[in-house]
Amino acid sequence: MRSILLSTVRLAGAARSNLAGSGTRRQRSLAALGLTLLAAAPALAQRDPGVRGGYQNTAGALQQRGIPIPHPPVISPHPTTGATDGGVHQLWVVRGAQNDNTIPNCVLLQPDFDAEFARGNLSFRIPSPMLGLGLIESIQDREIMAHFNATARHRAALGIAGHPNRSGNDGTINRFGWKAQNKSIAMFAGEAYNVEMGITNELFPTATEEDPSCQGPQKPQPNDVTRTDASDKDNKAFRNPLHILADWMQFQLLLRFTDAPRADPSPTASATFGRQVFNEVGCATCHTPRMRTAPVMNSAVLQDRPVDLYSDLMLHRMGGNLADDIVQGDAGPDEFRTAPLWGAGHRLFFLHDGRTSDLLEAIKAHAAPANGSYVASEANTVIDRFHRLAVPAQQAVLDFLRSL
Ligand code: HEC
Repeated sequence: MRSILLSTVRLAGAARSNLAGSGTRRQRSLAALGLTLLAAAPALAQRDPGVRGGYQNTAGALQQRGIPIPHPPVISPHPTTGATDGGVHQLWVVRGAQNDNTIPNCVLLQPDFDAEFARGNLSFRIPSPMLGLGLIESIQDREIMAHFNATARHRAALGIAGHPNRSGNDGTINRFGWKAQNKSIAMFAGEAYNVEMGITNELFPTATEEDPSCQGPQKPQPNDVTRTDASDKDNKAFRNPLHILADWMQFQLLLRFTDAPRADPSPTASATFGRQVFNEVGCATCHTPRMRTAPVMNSAVLQDRPVDLYSDLMLHRMGGNLADDIVQGDAGPDEFRTAPLWGAGHRLFFLHDGRTSDLLEAIKAHAAPANGSYVASEANTVIDRFHRLAVPAQQAVLDFLRSL
């Protein structure tokens, strides 16, 4: 959801300039009111009235981390304390609502994020980038496995293993999300509608919170399903072609046909050299530069196209630096899908938890020695080779990444 993240940033900018505009108007009207206001007693000092409607949610210490947290944090089993539930928790629950009279008695409390954070029980995730997903979905499993098998000897020499996260339903390769936990764009969208936004739908019809005093009389039914109404009273008429598709379905269509990020068409000499270093040092062993979509798809824009994603779509054990102790399908506590690097040139935050905006730090974080909890990172040899490069060659790799 990187693109959503970026648009949030942009919106924030736009909101600021609007405020600045209305500020000037307000200053003019304040001037007209004269000294009465200036002389007001301290008791009338300005105060932010708080969120409209009385909602009392906060993200506690999470707000102070300085990174965006649009994705709910995950409370995960901690290797030493063992405190666990491994689930994704809502950052925003209904508490103190005064403006929804269908749920006057709804009191949902957020987990105590501050305490869990202090205990080291929280894991964070930023939204994964959302461009070009239709192309990634259109790569056949056999293409993924062919690339993976082709690097077998090279990987063995570098100490790199890797394996797919296969679907428990049909055994095919899952490929979306930081742990490749989602099978398809539809699954990704349906899950995000329910878990991130609280909108139940055909794929995820069960609410994560079923407390009747918070559901209200109309809410137990799935919120967003393909329309079967006889009339268009609620914009849900079966006969209206514009209204028939459920919103989550339209959303997954949008995702499928949003194009891939474009690399810099005229990269610098350093970036061009960096591409070569990236291959030679072994980054490309995991970050597979190119795959192809299936020869025939139901849309011409998706079929038989190169996909310059820079990922093998496999899981790798990345060691204690990156481990988040979350298990999803075949992905273990320290395993992550090789993050696709296309679009890295436009990105603000890197790694699953957005811990850094600095590519060099992102590369360093790949390395970790074995410890009591985790084996050594599979990337150690490659990262070691990167560190032993001369500075201009390291710079070239960074320039190459920013050209993507
Ligand atoms: C063993 C496989 C492996 C090797 C080798 C490897 N990477 Fe990665 N890379 C990953 C995985 C897995 C992630 C996701 C980690 C996470 O999010 O916690 C990642 C993430 C990244 C990211 C952050 C991308 C994002 O979306 O946030 C960058 C940048 C990156 N790698 C660059 C490199 C470079 C440059 C090299 C070579 C010096 C390299 N990688 C070698 C597996 C590998």
